[in-house]
Amino acid sequence: MDTPIWRALASKAAACRQTLNLSEALSSPDRFENLSLHAPHVLLDCSKSLWDEAVLQDLLQLARQAGVEQRRDALYAGTVVNETEQRPALHVRLRAPFSAQGGFQNDEECHAGLSAMLTMAQQVREQARFTDVVHIGIGGSGLGPELVLQALHPWCLGGPRVHVVSNMDGHDLHQALQGLEPARTLFIVASKSWSTAETQRNMASAQVWVSAAAGLHWPDHFVAVSSREDIARQNGFTQTLHIPEGIGGRFSIWSAVGLPVALAVGAEVFERLLAGAAQMDIHFAQQPLERNAPVWLGLLDVWYGSFLEMPGRCVAPYHHGLRRLPAYLQQLEMESNGKQVMANGKPVGCLTTGMVWGEPGSNGQHAFFQWLHQGTQRIPVEFIAAREADHDLPEHQEALLANALAQAQALMQGSKAGPEQLLGHQDFPGNRPSTFMLLDALTPESLGALLALQEHRVFVAGTVWGINSFDQWGVELGKTLAKDLRKRLDSGDVSGLDASTAGLLACCALA
Ligand code: F6P
Repeated sequence: MDTPIWRALASKAAACRQTLNLSEALSSPDRFENLSLHAPHVLLDCSKSLWDEAVLQDLLQLARQAGVEQRRDALYAGTVVNETEQRPALHVRLRAPFSAQGGFQNDEECHAGLSAMLTMAQQVREQARFTDVVHIGIGGSGLGPELVLQALHPWCLGGPRVHVVSNMDGHDLHQALQGLEPARTLFIVASKSWSTAETQRNMASAQVWVSAAAGLHWPDHFVAVSSREDIARQNGFTQTLHIPEGIGGRFSIWSAVGLPVALAVGAEVFERLLAGAAQMDIHFAQQPLERNAPVWLGLLDVWYGSFLEMPGRCVAPYHHGLRRLPAYLQQLEMESNGKQVMANGKPVGCLTTGMVWGEPGSNGQHAFFQWLHQGTQRIPVEFIAAREADHDLPEHQEALLANALAQAQALMQGSKAGPEQLLGHQDFPGNRPSTFMLLDALTPESLGALLALQEHRVFVAGTVWGINSFDQWGVELGKTLAKDLRKRLDSGDVSGLDASTAGLLACCALA
């Protein structure tokens, strides 16, 4: 990080902290023009971000020096970009056939798995044997289906009801199964590695549930979606779908992991989701960095994280269909870029991704927005809204949009209370940054584009930091320790444990 451009940005950050006044800056009408752009399906407004054109220019130089363009081309070409696992990252290729003008290379393995999934989804929908589908999967194998099913709710027509179970806590599965008929229920077990403890546990209990019903043979009610279908087959599965090794869990909604979505909305609508993502892929590949939405967002993430040292970002969707977006982005960003070493194993040497968190904006306003407006720490807020709603309650939509705009405005401009007011308590410091993403409407295409935009921004930031955004070694230690503690819960053996874990284990064992 000891380069002239890094130092130039560090000194701009110091100046920006002291002198950049968003309210003043936004008195110039050019600022909106210059710092907002139209990407496919998304108007991206970064004019309320804590930067200016000069900072953007320097950040673009930083991106060029970090090789963002070359690494993007390597990503699209399917060369190894996940160095620690020696794999390419192939999610863009799942969308490639759906891009009319992209001309990106297709990948047979990717496409075969996806086609098989779409064919299976259509068959199951046509047979109408199953009224309910329970999708079992966690992390990337659960969050994507959950988000997309909610977002595409108006398109969930003519297929089975779909329920998503992720948590190892038995309440999750127990509640999902309530009222379901085993004979009319299909289970999808999505696990790329086929070794995730939560998914294996839920799968085993679901198999018992089906088998307990007279005359049912569980394999007729289960589909495995995995890179390790060989193991699933050895364990009795007869219906399997393939996830290529090069599809990372948090990038997998476009693959056979999307089966629950395709079952609910049909293959055609699923393809529209892919087509929307492909449009964003083309934008990322072909637009100059100066007007490239994922590049702007990735660079803003670097600017806020490494230079302004803000501890995170709040995601505030103003659309009920996007209520799980904060959780989805949490995995996408924090698992991808929550790292302290670069791809070459050396320390990064600056702050990387902070916390990504949020709630639907309407609810958040009555909970944590107090902190956003008047707390002692300042973080950017990402507002995401759709101009048109998919209901016939126009008063709701207008009020919702007014609130989204008002919150962004209030964070930016602040306000000073008059002398008669409660001293200080009603002051809003303002100068609090936000970005605004406006979709025309939440549709399969715009959702695809929005999620691809988020994937690429993570990739851009990771590239500038020199991080491999496609591995996740940080999740492993806890898994290993859990295996040991699981045995100790049975045996009661606390030898060699620290005092706290030993004390807690003893209490758990007693319970
Ligand atoms: O433990 C983290 C993780 O490996 C994620 O990266 C992944 O999305 C999730 O678990 C689920 O993994 P799998 O699909 O292999 O069950």
